[in-house]
Amino acid sequence: MKKSKSLFARPIKSKSRSNKSFEYPELLNIEGMSHEGRGIAKHEGKTIFVAGALPDEQVKYQVETKHRRFDEATCIEVIKASPDRTDPKCKHYDQCGGCDLQHYDHNVQITTKEKLVLDQLSRLGKFSPKTIERAITSPSWQYRRSCRLGINQLKRDGSPIVGFRRRGSNKLTSITDCPVLAEPLNKVLKGLPPLLESAESFKEITHAELSLGDHEGAMTLRVKKQPSKELCEQLNTLATNLGFKLYLDFGDHSEAFEEEATLGYTHQTSGTQIRFQPGDFIQVNASVNQQMIDRAIEWLELTESDRVLDLFSGIGNFTLPIATTAASVVGVEGVEDMVERSRENAELNQLPNCSFYRADLSKDLTAMPWYKQGFNKILLDPPRTGALEIIQQLEQHKAEYILYVSCNPAALARDGAELIRQGYTAERFCVMDMFPQTSHVESLILFRKA
Ligand SMILES: C[S@@+](CC[C@H](N)C(=O)[O-])C[C@H]1O[C@@H](n2cnc3c(N)ncnc32)[C@H](O)[C@@H]1O
Repeated sequence: MKKSKSLFARPIKSKSRSNKSFEYPELLNIEGMSHEGRGIAKHEGKTIFVAGALPDEQVKYQVETKHRRFDEATCIEVIKASPDRTDPKCKHYDQCGGCDLQHYDHNVQITTKEKLVLDQLSRLGKFSPKTIERAITSPSWQYRRSCRLGINQLKRDGSPIVGFRRRGSNKLTSITDCPVLAEPLNKVLKGLPPLLESAESFKEITHAELSLGDHEGAMTLRVKKQPSKELCEQLNTLATNLGFKLYLDFGDHSEAFEEEATLGYTHQTSGTQIRFQPGDFIQVNASVNQQMIDRAIEWLELTESDRVLDLFSGIGNFTLPIATTAASVVGVEGVEDMVERSRENAELNQLPNCSFYRADLSKDLTAMPWYKQGFNKILLDPPRTGALEIIQQLEQHKAEYILYVSCNPAALARDGAELIRQGYTAERFCVMDMFPQTSHVESLILFRKA
């Protein structure tokens, strides 16, 4: 029997009304993995979700919270380890709430995610895609090109905490090195604490948002009031030395400290340049994003006569590459600033066949001028809540293909079921490893009008 110490092997305060009691066995056998990356065990008809445990393991555990139909627990010791267990790379893994699968072999993470999504589609949506295609993957470290760092000044001694939320808590934990951040972002993470340490007060700074384009980045400090000139200058020097432009965000407006950054990336296959501003949504993993756009274009089988509708279009990440082939593309997005950016991007790329509109896609849109145009292919890339309201209004377009980009398998199962009710079949499916080392999973699914 292999015995290894769990990464979560530390005393954990129970949040439950009563702690582990005699009715629980000393050890649990883990039978599967939940979609949020916890081990699943069953005991006397009750399900126990065990954080930090992997399928096929036997573990000691501590019950954290009891519910009527299931309990939540944390693995405190691994008695029999899975062959897929691996040493987490990050020294903060025990405390940080950012990643939850670093102890699981990366290749197995991907196959497990694929299985979990397919299971949700079949269980909740009652459908299964016809073909399961190769997952879209990327290097599993240094992949994040944007992040938000929390900043706190301790009352006790004025020292800084720069980092992410603790596992299972809203409190910040100090992070000095993050292996999933792209190197320039990690350098900012390392550079900020010593700089703040030497400042008298930085209470007015609540967090830093970092985003990285192909050539430079932006470091936006969210502030309650203007920090001292001296501190701003020091922060600006740090940012500049690391290839970032400094911005201050006062809540009601944001401004560049010295000059604006030119943020952007190129979709390599189509040669489209996509510019963005601090605060705009960008896909976090640049490599997965490139491949995702390529696969979307391939699966949509675009031709020069296609009229495409791109819903939840952001800054035009899909719209512009699609416009290099299709006859016309309409992008619809809820945030006015991003609509503006996508129009500028269309102009920059000399793509007059794109048009962009602002709309809340959870509302009745049937009276909108763009809605009445005919579309034969539709792409949807909604937030976690999904796109049921707009999907219910798409039926009349009778589009040949609907390509759904999903960051929430449960919403995809519900929305896919509605498309199947409308006469679509789920043709092609793949998962995308947009967030390696975490339980988050994205998927791409092509629906075809039967
Ligand atoms: C997952 S992002 C995708 C953006 C873009 N397709 C991309 O690849 O970068 C979802 C987008 O939906 C927008 N959004 C969220 N809720 C919306 C709503 N109710 N109506 C319109 N747009 C919305 C967000 O602002 C965001 O840009």
